[in-house]
Amino acid sequence: MMYWRDEYERKVTNARRAISYVKRGRTIFIGTGCGHPRELTDELIENSAALADNSIINPFSFTTGHFADKRLEDSFRLNSFHLGTEIEEAMKQGRADYTPMHMSEIPRLIEDDRIPIDVALIMVSPPDMHGFCSYGVSVDITKTATESAELVIAEVNRQMPRTLGDCFIHISEIDHLVEVDYPISHDLFVEDSRDEVIHTIAGYAATLVDDGATLQLGMGTIPNAVPRFLVDRKDLGMHTEMFSDGIIELVERGVINGSRKTNNPEKVVASFCIGSERLMEFVDNNPMLEFHPSRYTNDPRLIGGQYKMVAINSAPAVDLTGQVTADRMSVPYASSPGGQEDFIRGASYSKKGRSILALPSTTIDGKHSRILPSLPAGAGVTSTREDVHYVVTEYGIAQLRGKTIVQRALELINIAHPDYRNGLLEAAKELNFLPEDQSSLPYRGKVYPREFEYWETINGHEALVRPMRPSDEHHLRDLFYSFSDKTTYQRFMSLNPRISRNERMKLANVDYDEQMAFGVFLLDGEREELAAVSHYQKDPKTNTAEVSFIVRDDWQGQGLGRYLLNLMIQAGRKNRIKAFTAEVLANNTGMLKLFYGTGLDVKAVLQDDVYSLYFHLEKEKE
Ligand SMILES: CC(C)(COP(=O)(O)OP(=O)(O)OC[C@H]1O[C@@H](n2cnc3c(N)ncnc32)[C@H](O)[C@@H]1OP(=O)(O)O)[C@@H](O)C(=O)NCCC(=O)NCCS
Repeated sequence: MMYWRDEYERKVTNARRAISYVKRGRTIFIGTGCGHPRELTDELIENSAALADNSIINPFSFTTGHFADKRLEDSFRLNSFHLGTEIEEAMKQGRADYTPMHMSEIPRLIEDDRIPIDVALIMVSPPDMHGFCSYGVSVDITKTATESAELVIAEVNRQMPRTLGDCFIHISEIDHLVEVDYPISHDLFVEDSRDEVIHTIAGYAATLVDDGATLQLGMGTIPNAVPRFLVDRKDLGMHTEMFSDGIIELVERGVINGSRKTNNPEKVVASFCIGSERLMEFVDNNPMLEFHPSRYTNDPRLIGGQYKMVAINSAPAVDLTGQVTADRMSVPYASSPGGQEDFIRGASYSKKGRSILALPSTTIDGKHSRILPSLPAGAGVTSTREDVHYVVTEYGIAQLRGKTIVQRALELINIAHPDYRNGLLEAAKELNFLPEDQSSLPYRGKVYPREFEYWETINGHEALVRPMRPSDEHHLRDLFYSFSDKTTYQRFMSLNPRISRNERMKLANVDYDEQMAFGVFLLDGEREELAAVSHYQKDPKTNTAEVSFIVRDDWQGQGLGRYLLNLMIQAGRKNRIKAFTAEVLANNTGMLKLFYGTGLDVKAVLQDDVYSLYFHLEKEKE
């Protein structure tokens, strides 16, 4: 016998009657995101005249802002954990509150009665044969708040998917039921419509996701665009606060299979989702997905225990040291980080984990840089500089982990919009993030030419070949001090060359026009080692450029020199350089073979055991 059916029938009522049970002076929790119970909240507002001094608690939803309406101020006061324009306006006028807290913390505060809940207005799926309804696409805080509420009123929506996991409520736990039937899909909020910029950023962020990684993708256009760049990865996992349509293809192709996850292997774990009708069908009764309360999904300790946890989030701004604010710039004291910091922190604990912040370099109108010298006064630091490993813009990737303040500032200026780089450089000097002698090295000339970035596998090692950047100065130091006497002598024709920091800075800070430098960076997890470097300096009078190469001893004879020379020729031709010149010791067979192997016409003049070489970049050998 299914006794619960009788109970169900007894509890079914309409929205008006259900809301009449809500008394004055109560704290009312309202279901989140796509699980927002529309008929109940409409009725609550409709019934506002009968209510007074009710607090509304809602971590986030698309319509909670309605409660911030001035006409309702005697009936409701909104306490939000997430901001929208209407709420910000109400806050300014003293009609609403904002409570800063991590998503992972909210359930505990509710359970400990620091945020007591009297009434829960929620939406659930129709009951299964055992009388259990699913919280569907909105489990997050909703389950915890419902469990601690005295009065539970639920919309039973035929269109709420029955998701699986720790996400069920029995009919006996609900006081009043209102049957509804309306779609719950919702477009993910598009905060930036610059498609090309978004794609470039997402593509860069995706390069930081290796096979076997477990992903968290934050809210927003950029994180949602990342999955389309991951179709050729293997064995990805997902442990996230929320997801959207972006991941469906990866799950269906078997790219996300969770086979290498530490916790909840083979399952996609989330606490809510927002998206299209297709997403709602995808999550319905899907045994590969597990929905859990935020207490579980957002626990930084659990996230940190996940091997190769990669968290990709977005935010309005980051400062030159790597501090992130999730503040909307219109209300600088009011952050809405949601669960972002839970995951950034968790990923920074994780073995081989990565925390990535991805954002466009400017605001949509291009009038403000989103990389700032320092955060605006009063802005909350939602992620500390200690926790953020990478910052990504459409100009590339800044690697911050383990970097000094000088290196961080240079890395971040390098991915700022070119129009703002010199201003940031000057500001960084004023703030003492950069030394005064950096002043001789303004960001002049061309933008970092990312078309010369190449990911390669060289003798089984992953390598990134790319133009050098100002923050690479320390790599040059490590490289120079690794050379044997022979290598040092062949390159510098002296056994004890001194290469000061200033000279290294000059070598690393090229203008990509009159000067160019490439490095071969060997990547071993987080470790990045410079194995070879090439450089040219143009003489504008003759339109020729002097070239030099140096390869770390243990990598000589393995093709790096040839690779770099080809790249230098390409760059030289692109920058309309007529010819390369070089001074090479007569016994430097490797270097000579390299030049003569180009197929170009090489002229050589020998004097005192040194060849002065000249080769035309367009002229083939006859
Ligand atoms: C010269 C140098 C840049 C070449 O780079 P590399 O990565 O070792 O060279 P590659 O592996 O690309 O090899 C290029 C060619 O040189 C040959 N070669 C490399 N090292 C050699 C050596 N020590 N003796 C003889 N031939 C050598 C290779 O066999 C290859 O020839 P191939 O095309 O006929 O097969 C590198 O050895 C080096 O850094 N030397 C010390 C510094 C220096 O001499 N700099 C040049 C001053 S401008």
